[in-house]
Amino acid sequence: MLARYLGNKTAILTPLMDTIAKYADPGDHVVDAFSGSLAVSLGLKNSGYRVTANDINLFSAIFGDAYLIPDEPPITPLADLIPDRTATSTRPDLRREAEAIVANLVGAPGFTFLNKPVWRDRYVDYVAVLTHLQTMTADDLAPEHRRSHFFDTYCEEGANAAFVSSRGTSGRRRFLIPLNAERLDLAINQVRAWFRDDLLDTHLYSLLLAGLVRSIETVSNTQGTFHDFIRTGWDSRSLRPIQFKPLPLDDTLGGPGGHRVGREQDTIEFISDVDHHAVLYLDPPYNFRQYTAYYFLANVICRYPTMPDPDAYFADVRYVRGQNPADDFTSTLCKPRRFIDDMTTLIGRSRSDTVVVSYYTGPNHWGSFDTDPTNVGRQHLTDMLTGDLFESGTLEVVEVPRRNYASYGGFKARDVTELLMIARRRDTGPHGSHPTEPGPH
Ligand SMILES: C[S@@+](CC[C@H](N)C(=O)[O-])C[C@H]1O[C@@H](n2cnc3c(N)ncnc32)[C@H](O)[C@@H]1O
Repeated sequence: MLARYLGNKTAILTPLMDTIAKYADPGDHVVDAFSGSLAVSLGLKNSGYRVTANDINLFSAIFGDAYLIPDEPPITPLADLIPDRTATSTRPDLRREAEAIVANLVGAPGFTFLNKPVWRDRYVDYVAVLTHLQTMTADDLAPEHRRSHFFDTYCEEGANAAFVSSRGTSGRRRFLIPLNAERLDLAINQVRAWFRDDLLDTHLYSLLLAGLVRSIETVSNTQGTFHDFIRTGWDSRSLRPIQFKPLPLDDTLGGPGGHRVGREQDTIEFISDVDHHAVLYLDPPYNFRQYTAYYFLANVICRYPTMPDPDAYFADVRYVRGQNPADDFTSTLCKPRRFIDDMTTLIGRSRSDTVVVSYYTGPNHWGSFDTDPTNVGRQHLTDMLTGDLFESGTLEVVEVPRRNYASYGGFKARDVTELLMIARRRDTGPHGSHPTEPGPH
């Protein structure tokens, strides 16, 4: 969903789903407690489970509302959204343009849902909106919605782009080229205007925001994360004009329904309110990187339409990257000394039958970027998964080798092993009534 999300599990989705299938039947409830890019949640949905997803990053909730909860393409009130561009008079007929775009998508991978006439019809309306966002000008917005916060803050030429780092270096932010920042400002302010006029239901609203986030990812002048931009040059991808592409929906439709998406909650708290589940899947952060900082721009885009006062919000952006500190969450799981205790608390509060923990032998709390993998983290997790909360003798470990492309301080691709560590919870009485509190360890 976000292709460059650190730690996303796209590469090991098949072994992960095969593993979970041993402990959950289709229709069972499975929890993706650190859902991030949503890759795993959607894999679970596709495998027929009822899914609960939560992550501290707002964009993950927006992706959940866009792709996890719905089981049909969105309904777009096109004539209400863009009245003067759907008429045939002086402006282009967006729907006819969209029909041509959709006709070209028929038969492409991920687009078999277009074979259903009513879904194709709906998709054409949605693509007409994307075409509007791609081609609209400031004249399409009422004067009070003509804002330029993304250009001002994240573009070298912007009035609010200057930064001074904690070490005293100064410069100007250059996440986006002007052309793309201007297009983002137009599109996001259009979504904000529609939202404030109450013209979008949750599905369409989230799908539009998720689309903007995904498009921005492909043209950002970064090495994949937004905690910094490329200071002395431009990634060749960032020089291309942004495209709001119609995305395939096959993998996001259907399923048993009943899914749930948490919104920016600390999973350690959120889990207490989640009903009984066959599998609790845990893919926590294993190093110092705070994801709300690393992906803040995705969250800003998703928050923008609901900001009561965008001027006040952007007046208080800080750090080299330009993030409002109110959006910066410090996860205790990014601290090695808190990690095992907090994971134990989380598991103890859950009403889960089986816990599946992802762990990888790359750089983490217990090993550094320039050392060979150590077994320390694995041993800590082993101790946790064989402790009081678990049935003895049930721990299993599946090892999946893969290449890690994340680079840091000059260390490039290296071989890592993704581990899936699985253990059965002790029987805690009638399902859901008695989540166990962790014992001392
Ligand atoms: C390794 S990533 C998960 C990747 C995900 N499985 C995927 O495939 O994209 C860890 C995630 O944990 C989230 N996170 C960190 N601390 C959290 C907390 N206390 N509560 C909820 N989410 C948290 C981060 O935002 C990040 O998305």
